[in-house]
Amino acid sequence: MRDVLIPRSGIHLRLVLAFSLLWASFDGSVAADGPHIATASHIDAGRVQANLEHLAGIGSDPAGGITRLGLSQAELDAHKYAVDLMKDAGLSVRIDAAGNVFGRREGSAKLPVILFGSHLDSVPHGGAYDGPLGTIGAIEVIRALNAAHVKTRHPLEVVVWTNEEGPHFGVSAFGSSVAAGSVGPEVLDRKDEQGETVADWLRRYGQDPGQLASARIAPGSLAAIVELHIEQGPNLEEAKIPIGVVQGIVGLRRWKCVATGTANHAGTTPMTRRHDALATAARELLAVRDSVRAEDGRQVGTVGYLKAEPGAPNVIAGRVEFPYELRDLDAAKIERMYAATQKRFADIDREEGTTTVCTEVNHIEPALGDPRIQATIREAARTAGLATMDLPSGAVHDAGEISRLAPMGMIFVPSHAGISHAPQEFTSPGDIANGVEVLYRTIVLLDKKLGAKPTA
Ligand code: HGY
Ligand code: MN
Ligand code: MN
Repeated sequence: MRDVLIPRSGIHLRLVLAFSLLWASFDGSVAADGPHIATASHIDAGRVQANLEHLAGIGSDPAGGITRLGLSQAELDAHKYAVDLMKDAGLSVRIDAAGNVFGRREGSAKLPVILFGSHLDSVPHGGAYDGPLGTIGAIEVIRALNAAHVKTRHPLEVVVWTNEEGPHFGVSAFGSSVAAGSVGPEVLDRKDEQGETVADWLRRYGQDPGQLASARIAPGSLAAIVELHIEQGPNLEEAKIPIGVVQGIVGLRRWKCVATGTANHAGTTPMTRRHDALATAARELLAVRDSVRAEDGRQVGTVGYLKAEPGAPNVIAGRVEFPYELRDLDAAKIERMYAATQKRFADIDREEGTTTVCTEVNHIEPALGDPRIQATIREAARTAGLATMDLPSGAVHDAGEISRLAPMGMIFVPSHAGISHAPQEFTSPGDIANGVEVLYRTIVLLDKKLGAKPTA
């Protein structure tokens, strides 16, 4: 593995991507760093890198990485860039009431749509590849089909889902959940710290919040959903395998909690008479970790922050807001961890003389990959001379939401050092090119294999 530059800041990130662009174009159509080189390539690796580099400039954060939050001006700018790329690729573009962008390429038969794409929003100070790889890669597949004069039987649609990450309003996979029917108008009034609502932002996206339900995708209208994504973990790089075939996407449940105690003077309040909300929240953070560690398997649980009020060194915190989330491929295990966690919270509240109230803000069921699509991804990789390994996804993805409507498959490529959701997120041009090439071949193979008879 050639040594890689690890970006530290927004400008550094763009330098790394520019270097990658140079690297990809210099090594011809497929720049690969090591033994994994896709055989004949249909895609233009240099163009993929150039588009990723341009995207990295939208929302790049001087304090480091990329901050392109869902339902924000930066995401809207990125969507506009994707619309231009889609139109350049000859796609007919539409935007639904959730702000999701679709680019359509007609097929030769009246068949359900093969849908593929990803998202363009990021976490605060995130990386350049989580979402953009699958979005830019999908548009590149269309460009490659055009260049090869391939006319598919199925209509193809490239999609950019809105607000997948969710920190802005606390609802992950927003656009795809609306499309799948698992999220509806109940989220429109959710407010952010500026007092703006989801509805306000949808209007800025040129949409009518009152029409949100029209973004639901009709059951039976999709033949398959496929998403190319970085692994966001260390497994592929450590195994030196270029392509991951996703077995399933974890389920996620997330709560917003408020621990309430009694704000008081830090100097005059005896230790025996305190109701310290921050002490409670700190104990509850560890209780989440204990409940998760008490189970066997790869489940995870996280408290992302503690927001203490009034937040002064000489005041005992009276109120602490914190989120916690639990993830696993097994919904029953999540339920068990949740019950154990809430019981511990009740014990801690009793001991500390505080109260903790938690409200569920996200509930995403686990989603299993479709065996036929997994087999097709393996075949696509094999024809490109690339090894594969099966693995679960510890991250949630839009494809998981849409798997409620159609057979789902996900393709992973390695993340350097397993880092993601951070400025240091990096995937080499060779791995990127391999992933897009396998996506191309998967779409071509699926078009042939998916058996639905033409509907007319
Ligand atoms: O949080 C996740 O798993 C995804 O990156 N939104
Ligand atoms: Mn993602
Ligand atoms: Mn992410």
